[in-house]
Amino acid sequence: MKRRSFLKGAAATGAIVATGFPHIWNKNMDLARAADGEIKVGVLFSLTGTTGIIEESLNKATLLAIEEINDAGGINGMRLVPIVEDPASDPATFAEKARKLVVGDKCVSVFGSYTSASRKAVLPVFERRDNLYWYPTLYEGRECSKNVIYTGAVPNQQQNEFIPWLVQNFGKKFYLIGSNYIYPKEENNYCKKMLESLGGEVVNEEYVPLGHSEFSSVINKIRSSEPNVIFSTVVGDSVVALHRQYRAAGLDPQKMPMASLTTSENEVAAMGGEAAAGHFTSAPYFMVHKSPENERFVAAYKRRWGDDKVTHFVSEPSYFQVHLFKQAVEQLAPSDITPPTIREAVKGQELMAPQGHIRVDPESLHTWLWPKIAMARADGQFEVLTSSSDWLLPEPYAAYPGQSCTEAGLVQK
Ligand code: ACM
Repeated sequence: MKRRSFLKGAAATGAIVATGFPHIWNKNMDLARAADGEIKVGVLFSLTGTTGIIEESLNKATLLAIEEINDAGGINGMRLVPIVEDPASDPATFAEKARKLVVGDKCVSVFGSYTSASRKAVLPVFERRDNLYWYPTLYEGRECSKNVIYTGAVPNQQQNEFIPWLVQNFGKKFYLIGSNYIYPKEENNYCKKMLESLGGEVVNEEYVPLGHSEFSSVINKIRSSEPNVIFSTVVGDSVVALHRQYRAAGLDPQKMPMASLTTSENEVAAMGGEAAAGHFTSAPYFMVHKSPENERFVAAYKRRWGDDKVTHFVSEPSYFQVHLFKQAVEQLAPSDITPPTIREAVKGQELMAPQGHIRVDPESLHTWLWPKIAMARADGQFEVLTSSSDWLLPEPYAAYPGQSCTEAGLVQK
């Protein structure tokens, strides 16, 4: 019912613009649309540069899902055609490639990116053309765009159980170390609020440039401030360098562990399991998760990309969001497949993902997920220590009481 009245509205706007006002930019006539038995989608993950280490695996998970859908007959008989671009871990190149995919190639959706810096860089492209960006990465929240489907965790879904658990098991003194951009700063903002409510203390808050690989002065400061927990939101190559240098400095994870929101099986494979062992991560998915859906995902991923490859908490949403896209698009008539109709159809979509039963929140376009806490093992896998008993509502404005993301946009309660 809701979708039908929306479609009527879109058609009416198109008719008005078509009869005049040629000087006004016509969003509806420029709207990307599926055609000729094909549905073009963009795949925008860095294959090179500082976050290539993780984004390359997001590209692989996305292509695997696209191939599965095509092998099973496509979407109502239409094939998905992926157009792959490498934005090389550079926000300006992300924006340029996004423009090419949306304006030039007329993709009806783009699956992409790891860092929030790159998501912020492409956002105007999607908002201006009313296109759809499918973002699989954990991020800081505080965004409410009707042009993004957010399938990764927001702070309440990674920290609500993690911070009290760390305080209880290790103590109240935290050292916050992050890469220098919006994501770590907002996550730390949330962490500080949680710590404050638990009587905790931040002994230092420090940011290093993206791609930073020399942590000796950070480690000296950690030694002298003697925190109970090192709360890490460094990303990309820096995760590997920080863990290796922590180990080389002879620090002990049993006394002063790193608690990370960004260290997955992927970074652990790059640094070697010994450097990761004994440190903690909170996320909705770990490769060892036991479910028929995850067994199928892991087996298919290894079959397609190599037996030595790992899956992790950003590749899993990269994979399931393509299947969510399929579920939404198969409800539409071929001539109706445009970004706004896909957005309407994805609202409230549910799926048995490898991590569990997930749902796209119809108000915020963020996803209900299953938080877990796990400890890295020397064999490169994680041991899951706690799992939430229910899916958890995404609250992208949890750090900003009074604000919430609704279907009508950001509102002040
Ligand atoms: C991130 O930048 N959202 C990890």
